[in-house]
Amino acid sequence: MTTIATIVGARPQFIKCAPVSREIRKDFEEVLIHTGQHYDYNMSQAFFAELGIPEPDYNLGIGSGNHGVQTGRMLIELEKVLLKIKPDLVMVYGDTNSTMAGAIVAAKLGTPIAHVEAGLRSFNRQMPEEINRIVTDSLSKYLFVPTQTAVALLAKEGIQKGVYLTGDVMYDAFLYNAQVAEKSDILERLEINSQPYYLTTVHRPQNTDDPTILKALISTLERLNELIIFPIHPRTRNLMKKYNITVKNPDLQLIEPVGYLDMLKLEKHAKVILTDSGGVQKEAYFAGAPCLVLRPETEWVELVEHGWAKLIGNDFQRIPTEIENFADFHRENAMLFGDGHASRKITEILSSLLYHK
Ligand code: UD1
Ligand code: UDP
Repeated sequence: MTTIATIVGARPQFIKCAPVSREIRKDFEEVLIHTGQHYDYNMSQAFFAELGIPEPDYNLGIGSGNHGVQTGRMLIELEKVLLKIKPDLVMVYGDTNSTMAGAIVAAKLGTPIAHVEAGLRSFNRQMPEEINRIVTDSLSKYLFVPTQTAVALLAKEGIQKGVYLTGDVMYDAFLYNAQVAEKSDILERLEINSQPYYLTTVHRPQNTDDPTILKALISTLERLNELIIFPIHPRTRNLMKKYNITVKNPDLQLIEPVGYLDMLKLEKHAKVILTDSGGVQKEAYFAGAPCLVLRPETEWVELVEHGWAKLIGNDFQRIPTEIENFADFHRENAMLFGDGHASRKITEILSSLLYHK
C-alpha cells in the first residue's frame, strides 16, 4: 500500500486536512503527523474531535518559539519520523512554519512533496507565510492549486509541471459542515438572539506586534458601538496582556477561540466580518457576508475583484465608512474556489500518479 505522510500543525491546517484525509484514506494509507505548533485545546484537539480527523500518529510537541527555533525543532523531529516511516509522499498544507519544515525535510530525504493550497502570493516578504509559500512551492512535485490566479502566478515563476487546479479544500470543508453548523447554539450561548453583530478575528504580526497598531485597532472597534464578537487568537490575547490593552466597551465581546462549527455559524449570521485571517476571508464569501480585510494586500484577490472583500490595511479609521459603503457594493456571485470536490480531485490525481507510475 502506498503511504502518504500528512504534516499539519496549526489551526487552519486541521480544517484543510479534514476533507482531504477523509478521501485519501479510501485509496492510501495515511500517517498523520502533528508538529504541535498549535497546542491549546481550542486551537488544536477540539478540531480533531469535531471534524472527525483521526488522532495523529505522531505529535511532535514542538510548541511556540521564534521562527528559527520553532522551524529548527520541527526539522529535527520531522526527519526522525520520516526516516522511520519512509512514506512514498509527504503532503503539506498552506503556508505555516509546519508547512515549510515538512517540505524541507521531505526534500532533503528525496521524498516527493504534494502541496495543498499552492501558488498563493501576497508579494509581501515581511509576511513569514510568503517565505513559507515560496520555499514549499519550489520544493513540491505536485502543486494542488485553489484558483486560476494561483496557476498563473506559478507559471510566472516558471513552475508549470505538476500543477493541478483542483479548487479549494476549505470550500469542501465549508460545504460538508455548513448544515450541521446551523445547529450550533453559539448565538444562544453568547445571548445574541437576533441582534445584528459584527465578527472579527485578528492574529497577523503586522496587526498585533506593534502596541500602537494593536491599541488603535481595539479602540476603533470599541468606538464602532456595535455588538462585535471577537474570538481572540492566543497570540493577540497574549500581546494585549503584555501591552496592557484592555477593553472598556462591553459591546466588544472578546471570547476564547471557538470551534469550527461555532465559527461557521457566527460567520453565517454576521452582518459584517472584519479579519486579517486568510481562511476567514474566504468563509465570509462562502457564508455571504461582506468582509473588511485588515491587511494592505490579500492572496485571495478574487474576493476583492468580485466585491466581497475590501482591503483596508491598518487604516482602521476607514472602517465605519467602508461598512456603510458595502450597502452600495455590487457583489458578483461566481464559483471562485471550485465546486466543493477539491479533495476528491486531489485523491484521484494522486492515485493516477502514484499507482500508475
Ligand atoms: C500561525 C501561522 C500563521 C497562521 C496561524 C493560524 C506561522 C509563521 N504562522 O501563526 O500563518 O495564519 O498560525 O492561526 O506558521 N499560542 C498559544 N497557544 C497555541 C498556539 C499559539 O498560546 O496553541 C501563542 C504563543 O504565544 C505563540 C503565539 O501564539 O508564541 C504565536 O503562535 P505561532 O504558531 O508561532 O504563530 P501564529 O501567530 O499562531
Ligand atoms: N476558526 C475557528 N475558530 C476561531 C477562529 C477561526 O474555527 O475562533 C477557523 C476559521 O473558521 C477558519 C480557520 O480557523 O476555518 C482560519 O484559521 P486562522 O484564522 O487561524 O488562520 P489563517 O487562515 O489566517 O491562516
